[in-house]
Amino acid sequence: MCDGRPEGERAGDVPVGHVLPGEAPVDQVPAGDVPVDVPVGDVPGGGAGVRDVPGGGAGVRDRRAGGAPGGRSPEEAREVGVGPWPGGPDAWPRLAGPGSPLDPRYDPELLAHGDRRNVVDRYRYWTVEAVVADLDTRRHPFHVAIENWAHDLNIGSVVRTANAFNAAGVHVVGRRRWNRRGAMVTDRYLHVHHHPDAAALVAWAAGAGPDGGRLPVVGLDNVPGSVPIEGYRLPRACVLLLGQESTGLTPEAQAACDVVLHITQHGSTRSLNAGAAAAIAMHTWALTHATPTP
Ligand SMILES: C[S@@+](CC[C@H](N)C(=O)[O-])C[C@H]1O[C@@H](n2cnc3c(N)ncnc32)[C@H](O)[C@@H]1O
Repeated sequence: MCDGRPEGERAGDVPVGHVLPGEAPVDQVPAGDVPVDVPVGDVPGGGAGVRDVPGGGAGVRDRRAGGAPGGRSPEEAREVGVGPWPGGPDAWPRLAGPGSPLDPRYDPELLAHGDRRNVVDRYRYWTVEAVVADLDTRRHPFHVAIENWAHDLNIGSVVRTANAFNAAGVHVVGRRRWNRRGAMVTDRYLHVHHHPDAAALVAWAAGAGPDGGRLPVVGLDNVPGSVPIEGYRLPRACVLLLGQESTGLTPEAQAACDVVLHITQHGSTRSLNAGAAAAIAMHTWALTHATPTP
């Protein structure tokens, strides 16, 4: 199993709404524990879920009291995603007109009940498999790897950013189990891999490049000997490797990197939040190499 779910749990086991076993449904999350920019909640019933909660927890508390965050009316808060496909089953998208088989990209459940997921409009009503298959046709050839990260929300934010930039894969080095709440379900639409340590990641990269060649490993950290990312041309196919939230890249990881890049800072903090640094690095890659989404 490469996606870190508990043994025996298939990816498809997670119902729409993504409240994993042992996980607290979103509306029971204690105040302040919800990431600030929670997008459309994949919660059964749509509107009753989390929606753009400025300031995190408090908004959730408001919701339970029936209020809507950000001063929106309950009606506005319920306009999340889309309702059932207009015109009912007779109007559902089919392969060759009325009476022909349903277009297999579409999920009859979503067509019938609406789609409130955190997906872009082009994928509304599509099955997860169809979305993944479409994304796979145009994955960007860079991977992002995180070494020994301790905070689930940071891991979740990297997964979400990697989804946004359609990375070929996310590699969690060290931990196998992590709480996916922070990923906002984006992990279901991309490939998440696990490696016990940096040496295993490097061994994987040795044969993961185009045509089975070696994939360069680009370290991100502000350590002695690192060079500025600004103006550095990132390889099109590569692994962007980020270090642990407090101690950074291990010496083994640094030694295994083709180059270590730092994001130039101008203030007093020693470093950026690791998730933020990952986002900057992925955006830097995209500025140079990204192909426009059709
Ligand atoms: C919060 S930093 C901690 C380590 C950092 N070297 C320090 O001494 O504070 C954790 C990770 O975030 C990333 N990071 C944070 N600031 C960065 C910067 N300015 N340039 C590149 N990566 C950075 C790196 O991957 C780093 O390993």
